[in-house]
Amino acid sequence: MEVLEAIKTRRSIRRYKTIPVDDKTIKLVLEAARWAPSWANTQCWRFIVVRDSEIKDRLADTLIAVSADRPNRAAEAIRNAPVAIVACAELGKSGYHAREPKELVTDKGDWFMYDVALAMQNLTLAAHSLGLGTVHIGAFDAKKVADILGVPKGFCVVSMTPLGYPGEEPPVRPRKELSEIVFYDKYGVE
Ligand SMILES: Cc1cc2nc3c(=O)[nH]c(=O)nc-3n(C[C@H](O)[C@H](O)[C@H](O)COP(=O)(O)O)c2cc1C
Repeated sequence: MEVLEAIKTRRSIRRYKTIPVDDKTIKLVLEAARWAPSWANTQCWRFIVVRDSEIKDRLADTLIAVSADRPNRAAEAIRNAPVAIVACAELGKSGYHAREPKELVTDKGDWFMYDVALAMQNLTLAAHSLGLGTVHIGAFDAKKVADILGVPKGFCVVSMTPLGYPGEEPPVRPRKELSEIVFYDKYGVE
């Protein structure tokens, strides 16, 4: 699948078939994540592959509802997909000068979110190109997830995704027009 086609046809998948995903395929999507760019090649990301049903259930219970009237729709996906991949980051690496004392390079803080997002988007696109579904999940209690998975201090759990064969074909979600989000030479100039 071409990159542009993969970008345009990927959808968030929240229903999964029970078909297992083999180790070789899981490694392929993790390879895609591994090859993402990162701040000064610091590669602050770590990935935890969860197949154990009981652990997946506990992860699903950490998801937080974004709107008051309905639960986080991805919780059942974490429960039912054969695999969940949880992305963590080592803090104090991305966005910092390499030399001691450790100081931020920019006024934008630790860049761990950015690096992990790049890796996870590589992973989700690679998964899609292999016929697998994913959904980026950000709304969960990161401290609870760290406890469940034994993530050490100094790391932050950033996101997770189920991984499995899609059990649904969701409709395309609309995107803003380029004219609404792209400016030329100065902000606001179309
Ligand atoms: C940073 C981030 C966090 C997200 N968190 C959740 C989540 O907690 N639960 C969920 O169901 N979807 C979550 N999503 C999926 C978005 O709702 C989805 O990507 C968006 O509606 C566009 O749909 P599409 O992915 O099918 O194009 C998240 C996506 C991103 C990028």
